[in-house]
Amino acid sequence: MVHPDIEKVFRTAGEIHERVGELAEEIGLIYGDREIVALCVLTGGVLFFADLVRCLGGTVRLAFAKAASYHDGTRPGDLTVDLLSGEDLAGKDVLIVEDIVDTGRSLVGIRRALRAFSPRSVRTVVLLDKKARREVDVDVEFTGFTVPDEFLVGFGLDHAGRYRNLPYVGILRRTVYEGCD
Ligand code: IMP
Ligand code: MG
Repeated sequence: MVHPDIEKVFRTAGEIHERVGELAEEIGLIYGDREIVALCVLTGGVLFFADLVRCLGGTVRLAFAKAASYHDGTRPGDLTVDLLSGEDLAGKDVLIVEDIVDTGRSLVGIRRALRAFSPRSVRTVVLLDKKARREVDVDVEFTGFTVPDEFLVGFGLDHAGRYRNLPYVGILRRTVYEGCD
């Protein structure tokens, strides 16, 4: 059953599952036998992260960061970045796992913050890329799906804290955030 606030399902749970498996293979080809530190960007990245790390072969450590650029609305606000885990990133191959890249500002902030920990390498995997909205240049090495310039929810993505648990990615009805029918 699709949630009534969803205009249209963009990718089903099955389609996401299949793509996550493909991404894990692409990632495996790049890292080979090297140990990876998979860095989950909370909260939105958590469902994608949990699925992806289970598909990765080899040795994987888990780490967590909090970055927020959206608060209660759909406009980017001030960015804050906090690294939450005590994982030592020095000399490590860090793979940032994000739900979506939009303007690119969050990712730039995270990548900049990570430099202080002297990792050996930093790469990024995003489930969704809203390419048309990019405002700053940022490297994204692995992308699940390129998405249209619509407000998406589900599979970790929220609007005002809701819908993260939906097992698919859907386009949110405008009436939900524009406040009229
Ligand atoms: P950026 O800094 O503009 O690239 O924003 C990235 C962050 O904005 C993501 O990690 C999301 O938390 C949020 N975001 C961007 N687009 C959407 C969307 O369509 N739905 C829900 N959250 C979004
Ligand atoms: Mg996010």
